[in-house]
Amino acid sequence: MDLLAQDAAADRATMDRYRRYLSAGRAALGEMFGGDIEVASEGAWVRTSTGRRLLNCGGYGVLITGARHPRVVAAVREQLDTNPVATRLLLEPTVGRAAEALVATAPDGLDRVHFACGGAEAVEAAIKLARANGKRRLISMDNGYHGKTLGALSVTAKPVFQDPFHPLLPGVAHVPFGDAAALAAELAAHPGEACVIVEPVQAEAGVIIPPAGYLAEVARLCRAHGAFLVLDEIQTGLGRLGYWWGAERERVTPDVLLAGKALGGGVLPVSAAIAGAAAFAPFDRDPFIHTSTFSGSPLGMAAAHAAITAIREEDLVWRARWLGELLTEEIDEIVREALGDAVREVRGLGMLIGIELAVDGLAGELLLELVAAGVIANHSLNSANVLRLTPPAVLAHEDVDFLLAAVETAARAVADVL
Ligand SMILES: Cc1ncc(COP(=O)(O)O)c(C=O)c1O
Repeated sequence: MDLLAQDAAADRATMDRYRRYLSAGRAALGEMFGGDIEVASEGAWVRTSTGRRLLNCGGYGVLITGARHPRVVAAVREQLDTNPVATRLLLEPTVGRAAEALVATAPDGLDRVHFACGGAEAVEAAIKLARANGKRRLISMDNGYHGKTLGALSVTAKPVFQDPFHPLLPGVAHVPFGDAAALAAELAAHPGEACVIVEPVQAEAGVIIPPAGYLAEVARLCRAHGAFLVLDEIQTGLGRLGYWWGAERERVTPDVLLAGKALGGGVLPVSAAIAGAAAFAPFDRDPFIHTSTFSGSPLGMAAAHAAITAIREEDLVWRARWLGELLTEEIDEIVREALGDAVREVRGLGMLIGIELAVDGLAGELLLELVAAGVIANHSLNSANVLRLTPPAVLAHEDVDFLLAAVETAARAVADVL
């Protein structure tokens, strides 16, 4: 068998294994996107088994530092060669260093950290902190996304994800995002008992940016009604919005701030719940009340510390802000020119950009065409008509040019079949 034939056979085996051992639905989706098999990544680019290069503006917002950032890779390698997994009986240095670095980025007063791996785990930790602080009622926002473990799913207010899994947590209410009056009414019904969980910009809902002042008003209402505030910045934090945290835009200090995705530097899964001393007191008192084997594992902590350092040293927060503004404007112009009224809105903050289409099915078509043109983007889990771009902040000028050209090619291809 020649090399090309060997590669094709290996790709078919990958597809077969998905079908047989993982998920037939996932395999079918892979086929729909052209059957490309990714095998390597570097910076903003992903390489497939056939040598195709794709610009990665997807990856669910993980890659603000790009893939395999050299600083993160070096730190993880060094940790791998010294102490990858801790005994958890002795103390170990990486977790303290990562916590200190993370706290230095967070709003003043948030100086305690519980580390986890996936985002939903950090959400679980926040819900447990709320309960341990006496807040047993949860309020989340319509179309908000907080993950799919049972606790997190209870606040991910989307019937398609919730319905097969009832009963979920009791005492959960959902109110419209951006509607402070609806939140005020719900809070007034349960004084002193509630925990509100909210994203500063709803990402999976299709990049929904609330009215100016909303987040500050949510924080004010929580204080006024004795409620706990959890700000879920798993997708928006660490520079994605062109700020270290969305909280910063409205000078909000929640009781708990959640981080994930970018925190592992695009190399390892790391998430965190960052809290003030009072909110964190139950975990401070009893180190065994909420534990998990890989929480704060040295490998992940080396990645997190290096990721935060890279974001700071390379000014990626600032880069995300101005690159995001430029991209949002240019993309708006390109898709409107090609698709006219079929585009409802292009909106974004930093490197979280949504293209909302006015015609059902078109966001999917645009995603397919973008992949064909060499760009990976995201669908939005809670909004079928919004295509989401989450490029890394390390995009070079040539990458920006490539992205805009691909958006134009894809939009024109979609326009041809409209
Ligand atoms: C705002 C937000 N919270 C929580 C999560 C869940 O994170 P994970 O998928 O790592 O569990 C996500 C994932 O997209 C998210 O966007």
